[in-house]
Amino acid sequence: MRKKIVAGNWKMNKTPKEAVALAEMLKPKVATDNSQVIFCVPYVDLIPVAEVLKGTNILLGAENLHFEDKGAYTGEISAPMLKEIGVKCVVIGHSERREYFAETDETVNKKVVKALEYGLLPIMCCGESLAEREDGITIEKIRIQIKKGMKGLSKDDAKKVVVAYEPIWAIGTGRVATTEQAQEVCHAIRVVLGELFGEDTAQEISILYGGSVSAANAAELFKMEDIDGGLVGGASLKEDFEVIAKA
Ligand code: 13P
Repeated sequence: MRKKIVAGNWKMNKTPKEAVALAEMLKPKVATDNSQVIFCVPYVDLIPVAEVLKGTNILLGAENLHFEDKGAYTGEISAPMLKEIGVKCVVIGHSERREYFAETDETVNKKVVKALEYGLLPIMCCGESLAEREDGITIEKIRIQIKKGMKGLSKDDAKKVVVAYEPIWAIGTGRVATTEQAQEVCHAIRVVLGELFGEDTAQEISILYGGSVSAANAAELFKMEDIDGGLVGGASLKEDFEVIAKA
């Protein structure tokens, strides 16, 4: 049985005080044993939110990390820093990082390797742009992102990665992929994972859908065979996240 996961990606929202208030509000609502709930929050919110989540089974996640342990990388945060403050998981290669911060499949790969080295659960993102979808190259694009992002991983390491499929045209737009579109790509991801790591391993890897997931559409999406949960932006900042986590 693959793990069902619902991760909130707070992006660049919530000051530390606001983050504590949001985590306190959501904590009792999203407590569930049926799925793994994760809050991925801005760096400065990690320490105060870690306090709020103590004693719960909600995992704390960061939204990025650097692929070196330490050094002259002004403004960056490393895996050992995250580890020490109780972070359990990290979003890697979000399309916003690829678009605005020059993240590439190569840096994504280095970050996935580094996260695994420190026992952090990587949520590795992939997804096509609207132009790529219209050109009919969605699956090719996704296959390349998976192959490059997970390059060099052993089967055992691959099992510790969570893949998130986030079509760029559906992020923050209110335009959600249809359940069929989302399932088609998540299935294609499982096929390429099978080619890379074997069918048994591919069956163990959780694949999430992200892009305008809401209280209204979560249950339908999560019913699809190859969709094991969601990576949620806007709706993770409000009470709707309860409905999504329960879905
Ligand atoms: P929205 O849910 O706001 O569309 O964002 C999706 C996302 O980018 C999650 O990482």
